[in-house]
Formats: sequence, C-alpha cells, structure tokens
Amino acid sequence: MDLQNFDHEQVVIRRDDETGLVGIIALHSTRLGPATGGCRRWRYVDLDAAKYDVLRLSEGMTLKNALAGIPFGGGKSVILADNNQRPTAAQLQCFGTWLNDLQGRYITAEDVGMGVAEMRLIAAASPYVSGLGERGIGGDPSPKTAYGVFLGLKAAVQYKLGVTQLHGVRIGVQGLGSVGMVLCHWLARSGAEVWVTDLDASRIALAEQKYGAVGVAPDQLMQLEMDVFAPCAMGGIITEQIANELKAVVVAGAANNQLATSACGDVLAARGILYAPDFVINAGGVISVAHEYLMHQGMFADKVDHSVERWVGGRIDSIAHRLVDILQIAEDEGCSTESVARRKAFAVINRPSVERDVKTAVAA
Ligand code: NAI
Repeated sequence: MDLQNFDHEQVVIRRDDETGLVGIIALHSTRLGPATGGCRRWRYVDLDAAKYDVLRLSEGMTLKNALAGIPFGGGKSVILADNNQRPTAAQLQCFGTWLNDLQGRYITAEDVGMGVAEMRLIAAASPYVSGLGERGIGGDPSPKTAYGVFLGLKAAVQYKLGVTQLHGVRIGVQGLGSVGMVLCHWLARSGAEVWVTDLDASRIALAEQKYGAVGVAPDQLMQLEMDVFAPCAMGGIITEQIANELKAVVVAGAANNQLATSACGDVLAARGILYAPDFVINAGGVISVAHEYLMHQGMFADKVDHSVERWVGGRIDSIAHRLVDILQIAEDEGCSTESVARRKAFAVINRPSVERDVKTAVAA
C-alpha cells in the first residue's frame, strides 16, 4: 500500500486476544474538534485492505465535517470481521475501552455493519460514542444521510438537466441498505423512475414492493440508460473504466469514496458527467451524530426545545446550496467537482481562529 498520499495525525491498530477483536482507528485531523466518523465492520481481504479503507474514509470525514460546518475533525474506525455475524457484546465493550484510551480525540458512530444496538453496547464502556438515540435525540444517522443525499441529488439534476422536479427522471440506486432504501422512499415520492440493485435479493424485492422500483442484477445497473446513478453501497465504484462507460449524466449517491482515484473525477468531468462529491451530499448523518454528541455534552442545554430541528435541519438543508456553489465553480474553472470541494474544505480546516469558530458553530 502506498502511504505517501496519506497524512494522518494518528492511526491505531489493535488486537484483543480474549475477545478476538481486531480493529483500526484512524484520526485524520482534530484541527476543527474531536475526530468524528463511524465504525465499519467488514470482511476485508486482509489487513492492508482494511488500512487503506480506514485511511481514505477518515480523510473523507475531515472534508465532510469541515464543509458541513460542524465543530469536529475527521476520523473513522474499522473492525475486521471474519464472518457475517454481528460483533459480540464483549468485543464492542473492548472497542469502547480502545476509545477511552484516545481520551475523546475520536468519537464513533454507526457505519456499514454497525447499528444503534452496537453503539449502545459500546456506550456501556465509553462516553465517546454517538448515534444512540436516547431521549429521542439523534439515533440511527442513515435516514438523515438519505435525506441529505436526496436534496443533493435533486439539486444536481436541476443544475444538469434544468428540471426542478424529479418526475420521470431515471435513477439507478446501487445498494439498498439503511441509506439506499430510504433514498428510494424519497425518490418514489418525487415520481422518479427508479431502478435498484443489491447483492441481497430480498432487499431488491422489498424496494420493488414498497416503492415500485424495478430490480436488476448487480452487474446490470450501470449498463442502463439512466439520468442519475446513485451509488449507495461500497466505495471505489467509479473506476476509470466505469467513468468512461457510464451512461448516466449525474452521479449522486451516499457511498463514501465513490471515486476509485481522483483521476476518475477528471474523466467524469471531461465526459460532461456531473459528479456530486460524496462528502458534500452524504453529510446528513454526521450532522445528526454531531448534534447528538454535543447535546450530551451539554452544549445545547439552555435551548434544547427549539435547537434540535433547527441546528440539524438547517445544516442538512444547506447541502443543496453548498453543492450548487461547488458545481458552479467547477464549471467556471473547467475542473472536477471533487477538486473544488476538497479545496473549499481545506480552506475551512486551515483558516485561523478555529477555536472561536467551534463556539460560534454551536451557538449558530
Ligand atoms: P448498509 O450496510 O446498510 O447497506 C449497504 C448495502 O449495499 C447492503 O444492502 C449491501 O448488500 C449492498 N451492497 C454492497 N455491495 C454491493 C454491490 N457491489 N452491489 C450492490 N449492492 C451492494 O450501509 P449504509 O449505511 O446504507 O451505507 C451505504 C453507503 O453510504 C456506505 O458506503 C456508507 O459508508 C455510506 N454512508 C452511510 C452513512 C449512514 O448514515 N449510514 C453516512 C454517510 C455515508
């Protein structure tokens, strides 16, 4: 693995013989606040594959959190799975002790393979966890992620196709998990024509039945003549070959790290395909997770009643404006949307007076 492109503050690789837990926690940046990003449980081919994933994901969280305007840096963790079973309570509590060793520099939450139940078990051992959904606040971030992606997708379609409604727009959704399925709900409500796929046939059947989507096999989706491709499964899906062959004119989905390399973003741009950068439009979940964590820290204690929806809702709603701003700059400068989004994120991260910004971010 080529480590030259990575610049992380801290990476911890740990094993616990008693519980069999093997995991990696990567803190990319704590400049804007504690590094925040979910914990993924996945069957990686080997440790190198897990390292590569967590390094890329944690960097993406730094960019995402900066652009979303939340007072958190970027981090991510992975648990290496050797089967499809859920992690044991003992493993999750062990993971909690690993979080404690980082003394609040990293806050975890849900990601692929880890849900609210897992977060609550981690919370039995550590305070550095969010997405718990206690006292009716926060909880599973996926619906918020899906809603933000929907708003971003809609804005991207309007920008590219000049239509304000999704009625009749042909959209292919890859991955019908916690986010993809809720995205289908919003797309169906908007009258879009939705094709779906998943490795799990029962998820396809559910989307067909609930949302009138048309199911196709996983290897068929990207062959379809569609307007929008919405990747909501795993990262690295836009390889150079896919970027060269894709028939959609908009790519807008939830999956983290959709571009296999930055060069794939250049290929999409050169072909006139609008790519809505994942870390711009999939921030809804982390906004919710951040808010929940700050609530538990007492940051919103004096205005609990009215702050919740406004703080979270306002930041999710602004995803569309932020995206359009990036699309316009990319068009004006003739470069990829991803490069503009990265530049804007680093402008936030590197600006002076970050401490003052953290306080105003909570107060706003
Ligand atoms: P999930 O694990 O609930 O669902 C993923 C789905 O994708 C599963 O149903 C799986 O069978 C399917 N899948 C995997 N590989 C596939 C393939 N090659 N073709 C078709 N289907 C495939 O995950 P979740 O939470 O829905 O997340 C989806 C993506 O969005 C992930 O990349 C995640 O990192 C990203 N994301 C999720 C957030 C959240 O709030 N859950 C927040 C931001 C990003």
